[in-house]
Amino acid sequence: MLNTRIVSFGQYLPPKVITNKDLEKLMETSDEWIQQRSGIKERRWVEQGKDTCLSMATAACQDALKKANMKADDIDAIIFGSLVTDYVFPGTGVLLQHSLGFKENVPALDIRNQCSGFLYALSVANAWIKAGMYKRILICASEIHSNRIDKTTRGRDISVLFGDAAGACIVEATSTESGVIDIHIASQGQYAEALCLKEPAANFDMRRDFISVEDAGMYPSMEGKLVFKNAIERMTETMTRLLAKNHYSNTDIDFVIAHQANMRINAMVLEQLKIPWEKTHHTIDRLGNTTMATIPLTMGEAVDQEKIKRGDLVALVAFGAGFTWGSALVRY
Ligand code: ACO
Repeated sequence: MLNTRIVSFGQYLPPKVITNKDLEKLMETSDEWIQQRSGIKERRWVEQGKDTCLSMATAACQDALKKANMKADDIDAIIFGSLVTDYVFPGTGVLLQHSLGFKENVPALDIRNQCSGFLYALSVANAWIKAGMYKRILICASEIHSNRIDKTTRGRDISVLFGDAAGACIVEATSTESGVIDIHIASQGQYAEALCLKEPAANFDMRRDFISVEDAGMYPSMEGKLVFKNAIERMTETMTRLLAKNHYSNTDIDFVIAHQANMRINAMVLEQLKIPWEKTHHTIDRLGNTTMATIPLTMGEAVDQEKIKRGDLVALVAFGAGFTWGSALVRY
């Protein structure tokens, strides 16, 4: 019986730090409001001409390869995800296959599942490994939000929350007991418009439809309270379900890595699950919401800081646009 073991994590953070005070100069907001409502103190934004979605992805993957003591050709397949990729098509996965210098023409799958993307990617990687299709898979997420958010007061409910970053994770087949125990993923498309970025997309005709950078449709929109409420309910529900299905209780969990959208959401989820705050790690205060990159970045940091050790039972949980959500139990 093959299992899917997490080998390493990689990260890339653009160097430019944007504090809440910096945002006060762009829009009507305050450090106090942002920290109190979300727990965010600062985030990273790319500098034009320095970083691209692909360059950040490449750097995060190189970091993961280095930590795993591997080279690109040790990998059999790539799974890439991002909210906004380098091209409308093709996806950045194939660009990554080229930029990492693979000699082999390994497959590159692009997925689009927003903040739950890492769990969706892990579920695909796990199925591929269990089916014996591939032995080593590179999962990567690279997110540039700063180019597509409304940096005026009109967009302040969203633009203060998101940050740019890339995260990567290498998984491999193992015949030991360790690895992914189970994953639950779900979606509820009736809420697609509760958190979305609509234009310019497939139904937008460049010759017919005029849109300017001032148009609200060019920027993401969110029903914050609805997303907030659903995030707490769904993250709690998916974790409870996965634990029960696998005959574990909350006290069996050594560590939780929750998606980083809002510190208050995570506090409420942990409270409902009766898991103590010490059993988790946060990046939201320094990085904001980095969507699909969040889980590999946050778990990678917790591993580097030895908060998570080999053999620990780790729970991963996320909720995001779509709505999509999910959880995973991993014997790290
Ligand atoms: N600075 C100052 N004031 C603000 C800001 C800001 N940045 N943003 C909104 N406000 C104002 C509002 O206009 C409102 O003013 P009003 O009362 O005069 O109308 C007031 O603050 C309160 O706004 P609320 O929306 O009630 O604030 P709330 O407490 O709900 O917090 C927040 C807003 C932080 C956005 C919260 O709703 C949230 O975190 N939602 C979930 C985000 C999330 O989980 N996203 C999922 C993942 S993202 C993905 O998948 C891509």
